[in-house]
Amino acid sequence: MRIAVLAHGAFPGRAKTAIGLLRDPKVRQDDERLERLVGVLARSTDRLQSFVRDFLELAKIEEQKVTIARKPLDLEEIVDEVIENQGVLAEDKGLELTVEPWSDFSIEGDDFVVRTGVRNLVNNAIKYTDEGSVTISVDHDVDSFRIRVCDTGAGLTEEEQRQVFQEFGRIQRMAGMKGTGLGLALVKKLVEESDGRVWVESEGEGRGSTFTIELPRKFGEPGAERTRVEAGASG
Ligand SMILES: Nc1ncnc2c1ncn2[C@@H]1O[C@H](COP(=O)(O)OP(=O)(O)OP(=O)(O)O)[C@@H](O)[C@H]1O
Ligand SMILES: [Mg+2]
Repeated sequence: MRIAVLAHGAFPGRAKTAIGLLRDPKVRQDDERLERLVGVLARSTDRLQSFVRDFLELAKIEEQKVTIARKPLDLEEIVDEVIENQGVLAEDKGLELTVEPWSDFSIEGDDFVVRTGVRNLVNNAIKYTDEGSVTISVDHDVDSFRIRVCDTGAGLTEEEQRQVFQEFGRIQRMAGMKGTGLGLALVKKLVEESDGRVWVESEGEGRGSTFTIELPRKFGEPGAERTRVEAGASG
């Protein structure tokens, strides 16, 4: 994975260009240009920050340093927080973002895993949808529960559906959207570390996608924590 990162180039070139321009006193006197360049730097910093965060999380999993907590979780609170943070993005694009009501049920698990999973799926659904809606729904049975994020966006062919969970598995035709391509790889590893799975369904290009995370509702020993011995296939 480290080699892939080097090939990918972690440092956004646009930030370097902006810094170069900001060194010129004449540029700094132009308020409008100054504002624009600061905007470029702010966005680059955000991207770099989330890239580093995702990268470190993946590295921790690969080095088997991740401990999956087993604590009672408030799924409604997690979904609410994601909606609050991502809702603006949906609003900006004129997308309808809805959560289908569900009847309460108890779950145990790792807050970080569920929060990271829901945040990434909702963020992607908004990012790769130009028109229509993003819908979050939840259901459960005795042993497991599922969080589903359904969108009316770019859609994925069968080949693309296999690609998106790989590290840097970005789809060429969506290259216009900003991102590093680590989000879904991280979600997959975290969910699998928690004995769950994540998958996507889509009718194909332009026909929307539905991503589902399925996790166990409870573990054998309540309240206990456990360090995984195996870190998955890649690495
Ligand atoms: N809801 C979706 N609809 C269509 N394509 C999607 C969707 N979610 C993800 N993809 C495709 O899968 C690729 C990988 O997604 P992933 O979240 O891992 O990376 P990213 O969004 O490009 O970057 P980041 O690491 O910032 O999340 C995306 O680049 C996009 O091409
Ligand atoms: Mg993403």
